[in-house]
Amino acid sequence: MSGKGKTDLIVNGKRLDGRKPEELRPVKIQAGVLKRADGSCYLEWGENKVLAAVFGPRECLPKHEQDPYRARLLYRYNMAPFSVEDRKRPGPDRRSQEISKVSREALERVVFLENFPKASIDVFVEVLQADAGTRCAGLTAASVALADAGIPMRDIVVACAAGKVDNEIVLDVNKIEDNDGQADLPIAILPRTGEVLLMQLDGILAPEEYKRALQLAVEGCMKVNELQRNALREKYEKLADAGEQKE
Ligand code: CDP
Repeated sequence: MSGKGKTDLIVNGKRLDGRKPEELRPVKIQAGVLKRADGSCYLEWGENKVLAAVFGPRECLPKHEQDPYRARLLYRYNMAPFSVEDRKRPGPDRRSQEISKVSREALERVVFLENFPKASIDVFVEVLQADAGTRCAGLTAASVALADAGIPMRDIVVACAAGKVDNEIVLDVNKIEDNDGQADLPIAILPRTGEVLLMQLDGILAPEEYKRALQLAVEGCMKVNELQRNALREKYEKLADAGEQKE
């Protein structure tokens, strides 16, 4: 977000990638894609490509991090060096630490951690290709991977952003819009209750603009949540079919 607020990002009601202001990028979700993980998910969101893997509940190591009353939740967001235009230096940086922290805090409020004292539930999110919105894509994929691992949760967390581009409130900001737009508001919610688990704002929004952006982001979340549920349903239908064929 440069704050420059370029114009010409919306022409005749259409954004540069052809979307209407309230339109999502195409989202594809697949559950159960990794053999060695307890749960996994591959997600494409426009030009974003992310993979989430969940391990656990398993022994919490190092032992001094064990909590006698609840599981530890570990969330590691990592960007591949080749995921962005200018090669990213491998390993953690301030940005990935921040994203890991806010994502972990969102999930800690939904996973029944108290069911697994002394254990660890480890979530790894690998961004293979980035085009703005990767924290939302990562959290959305992580939540499907947690469900795929059979980890008990209050609901599936879903995330989506809205923003302000060319003086208009739009859903699901892409990279060009993120660079040259005026605001980006990623949120994560629990679809069943609408409870907000994560909200960050980069840029400036007037109160009315904020209300509209929040409303659009929630609508986006609800659409993506449908796709999360479909992905999990597909995975278990396949498993059920395979089981029937064996019998
Ligand atoms: O990805 P998200 O929108 O959640 O986070 P951001 O910090 O607002 O980053 C926006 C976008 O900037 C990322 O999705 C990447 O496409 C890009 N980026 C980059 O090109 N190089 C980096 N080291 C970090 C981010």
